[in-house]
Formats: sequence, structure tokens, C-alpha cells
Amino acid sequence: MPDARPRRTFAVISHPDAGKSTLTEALALHARVITEAGAVHGKGDRRATVSDWMAMEKARGISITSAALQFVYRDHVINLVDTPGHSDFSEDTYRVLSAVDSAVMLVDAGKGLEPQTLKLFKVCALRGIPVMTVINKWDRPGLSALELMDLIQAKIGLRPTPLTWPVGEAGDFRGVLDRRTGEFVKYTRTAGGATRAPERRMSSDEVEDDDVRLWQEAVEEHELLTLDEADHDQARFLAGETTPVMFASALQNFGVAQLLDLLLDIAPDPSPTEGVDGSVRDVVDDFSAFIFKVQSGMNNLHRDRLAYARVVSGTFERGMVVTHAGTGKPFATKFAQSVFGRDTSSVETAEPGDIVGFVNAQSLRVGDTVYVGDAIEYPPVPSFAPEHFVTASAGDIGRYKQFRRGIEQLDQEGVVQVLRSDLRGDQNPVLAAVGPMQFEVVEDRMTNEFNSPIRFSRLDYQVARRTDAAGATALAGMRGVEVLQRSDGTHMALFVDQWRAMVTARDNPEIMLEALPAGGA
Ligand code: G4P
Repeated sequence: MPDARPRRTFAVISHPDAGKSTLTEALALHARVITEAGAVHGKGDRRATVSDWMAMEKARGISITSAALQFVYRDHVINLVDTPGHSDFSEDTYRVLSAVDSAVMLVDAGKGLEPQTLKLFKVCALRGIPVMTVINKWDRPGLSALELMDLIQAKIGLRPTPLTWPVGEAGDFRGVLDRRTGEFVKYTRTAGGATRAPERRMSSDEVEDDDVRLWQEAVEEHELLTLDEADHDQARFLAGETTPVMFASALQNFGVAQLLDLLLDIAPDPSPTEGVDGSVRDVVDDFSAFIFKVQSGMNNLHRDRLAYARVVSGTFERGMVVTHAGTGKPFATKFAQSVFGRDTSSVETAEPGDIVGFVNAQSLRVGDTVYVGDAIEYPPVPSFAPEHFVTASAGDIGRYKQFRRGIEQLDQEGVVQVLRSDLRGDQNPVLAAVGPMQFEVVEDRMTNEFNSPIRFSRLDYQVARRTDAAGATALAGMRGVEVLQRSDGTHMALFVDQWRAMVTARDNPEIMLEALPAGGA
């Protein structure tokens, strides 16, 4: 039986430490997936699960991998897709964002808009997905709520339209004014925020003496916001002009139920999607999906490889034979999983908006489409302009076979871009990255997963442009540039600096030299 419940598929973007893991836990707690916060993202001696399977991630405290958490809330199915927090992985973030319908931008009330938040937000804007903002850590002293609204407007260029307004300044979080109903939602602390925090809704005249002064202040600011036309407007939100704002303390589970309600009320449904040839697949049409992430090495005990697909249309049923749009070949989906951190479970059916992991699907790459019925191919996920380049070689010549296999796998997963040329030969591929931390991931996985230590040697290139075969021939032998080929066939011209790239383009207007989207800046 297809599951006809509506879907909400979203991601949380934030600067590291803004509280993304804590919020994920709190959301799952509210949806009663887990009974006590701590079961999702292992912190301290809590059970480790979602995104810290890699030792390196643990050491750095950042999330590199992606997983999806699915839960049911008010008869909706919610898919929360995890994004890497560090901007070195913006390419990865972009891919993940191609799989969601909306994003939640999490802001630390004490720190305001931090660099990574801004970068990730730009990635979101590039994808054109609506963004909701959650001001987190309101239980701690921080900036004033009005100040934060000004920052969002000034730095991000989105009009903030608060849906809740805090009662009590940062550090003295009594509750919120629900701007849609005018009610006071009063919070009660629980020990360590480990269970669902009780909330009481009351009208203005039921507000207790203790809270009256702060309530009055909140009401006045709320009225100012209304005068300032900072009220939610669904069309402008969906058009990416405004961002609804909420106040929360993920740690104390304050405001979390409101975020879930908000997702249900205003976040967009999965919608019809256009293919490269302009044809449109509606959500009720035959099954189709695209791969937004390929990952292996989640389990050291047995080699696994998961291709994560976002269902675009139709109902997926395990065992279904689908067509791989790139090759036109059939592909049997005997093994499909849902992924909840390290825990995977077999998926029987999935609906548009859901994330499915295809197990050991060797032929599937990031950006691929699979479908049933009429042919459809979704636009490829664009790659970003790499700005860091190294040559790689096997640290142990005796393990060259493992080296090759590892590089090929990491290339397919899109961990780095792998560039080759006849001149350099296959033994020393060039690895290109948006952020240098990607090389650390390569080193870590080559050593620990593929048993092939790797050596890097830095290359003095800074700029990459896309060219074609004719361009490759014309550029050969020119100073300050080298042309290599990516495994998808794209010719990449690497320049020592911006100046050389500019002069070459200026002096040779016949050569195709196309800039790629910038991910790092
Ligand atoms: P991240 O995934 O975005 O990197 O952030 P994470 O949830 O790990 O939170 C970073 C730190 O901020 C954690 O503290 C966490 O407890 C704290 N935090 C998250 N939300 C809130 C909040 O609403 N209020 C307050 N006061 N703190 C919050 P930590 O000391 O680094 O870790 P832990 O030992 O407390 O787990």
C-alpha cells in the first residue's frame, strides 16, 4: 500500500556549534522517535549514531557525511537530511540541498550570523530553496531579538518575518508570543532538557504576574514588527524574498514543537520537477528519483556502498526494476535501505520526498536519474570551482591496486574531483578540491578504508575553468596553464592565478574558458 501521507523534506544549515545536532535530536524527540535526547547524535558517552561515524569527524567535531532521518509528526512524514557543517564541503552541501524542498537556517543567538552560516545560506540561495530561520540558544545571554532581525536583513538580504517573538531577553527565556494567534506559549524547564518540554498556551489576560512585564515588552515589539510589515507572507517566502523566524532553545527543547508545526504549515510539498529536455514529471507520475550522494565505508566490517536517491515522482517499491537514465540499462533495486545514522533498515516503499539508499549500486553516480516508464533525466548537480590542487601518488608502491581502486571510489562519491592527462599518466592523478579539508578526508579514507597510504604534492594552481577538446589543444604548451580531464569527460584548464586566466581569455577569445560556480568564497 502506498503511504499517502504528505511529505516535508528539509535540511538544517548552520555554522558548527550553532546546535544542529542538538536540534536534530530535539526534533526527533518531539516526533517521539526517541524517548530521550541523545540517541541520535552521540555526544560524550551517549550512544553514537548519525553523523560521527568517522574517527576524523569525531576528532574535529564536524559532520562530513550525510544521513537522513525520517519520522512522523501530525500525520506527516518528515525527512530531515543532514548536511555537512564545514564550508570546505560546500559542494557536498549543495548536492544535499538538491534533495530537499526547504532549509532551516540555525543561528546562535549569542554569535549572530557567522561566516559558515552566510556561506551555506548563499548555497541555498543558489538552489532557490525557501529558508526558515531558527534563532537558537535563547536560554543564554546574546544579542537582542531586534538586532538579530537587522542582521538577517543586512547580511543576507532576506526580510525576516518572525512567527514567534521571545518573551524575555536572551538568557531569560520564558516563552514566546505566537504572532499568528497572539497567545503566550509558556515553557517549563525539564531536567537537562532531556525530555519533551511542557508548554502552556494562554491568552494575554491569563499571563501570570511574574511574566507580565516581559509579556508587555514582547507585545510592543510584536506591534512594531506588524507596523514594519514584517508579517509572514507565504508567496514571498516561497519566492525566496522573506524568511520566517522563530526563537528556540534546542537544548531545553523550547520552540521545537513550533518548528515542526511551522514545517507542516508553511514548508513546501514535493513538487513537479523538470527534466533536462524540459519535460515535467509530476509527483503522481511513474517512479523516478535522482542520486544526490554516494557513500561507502560506513561500516568497517563489510564493504558497503550506498547511493542515496531522492524520490521525485511515483511510488518506489523494493525489487522494482528501474532504468538508469545515463546508460539506459535496467537496474534491479533488490536492496534498498532507509538510513538513520549508522542504523539502516530495509525499505519496502517510498514516496516523493523520501530518501532511499540503494545498496551496492556500483553503476550509480551523483546526479544520475533512475526511472520507470517514460524516459526522464534530471539536470546534473553542478560541480563547484576547485581552488586547491595536489598530485596524488601511492605511499606504498606495492599497494598500487588498492590505490587505484580507492581513488576511483572517492571520485565516484565526489569526495574530490579527480583530473587526469596523458602527460601525467594514471599513477599521479591530480586531485582538485573546493576546500582543503577534502584532502584530509581522502587521506583518512585511503589509509583506513582502502589500506593504501597516499602522498600529496601541492600544485601551484589556483583557478580552474571549463574548456572543450579544441580548447585543450589550443592551450597545450601555453605558459601558466595545464589542461586535464575529469572522469565525466569535462576538460579543466588550471591556471596559476586569476591574472593568467584573465589574460589567456582576453588574448584568445576563440578558446572556451568558462567559470564554474564558486563554492569556497
Ligand atoms: P552542531 O551540531 O551545530 O555543531 O552543534 P551541537 O548540537 O553539537 O551544539 C554545540 C554546543 O552548543 C553543545 O555544547 C550544545 O550542548 C550547545 N547547545 C546547542 N543548543 C543549545 C541551546 O539551545 N542552548 C544552549 N545553552 N546550548 C546549546 P557542548 O558543550 O559543545 O557539547 P555538550 O557537551 O553540551 O554536548
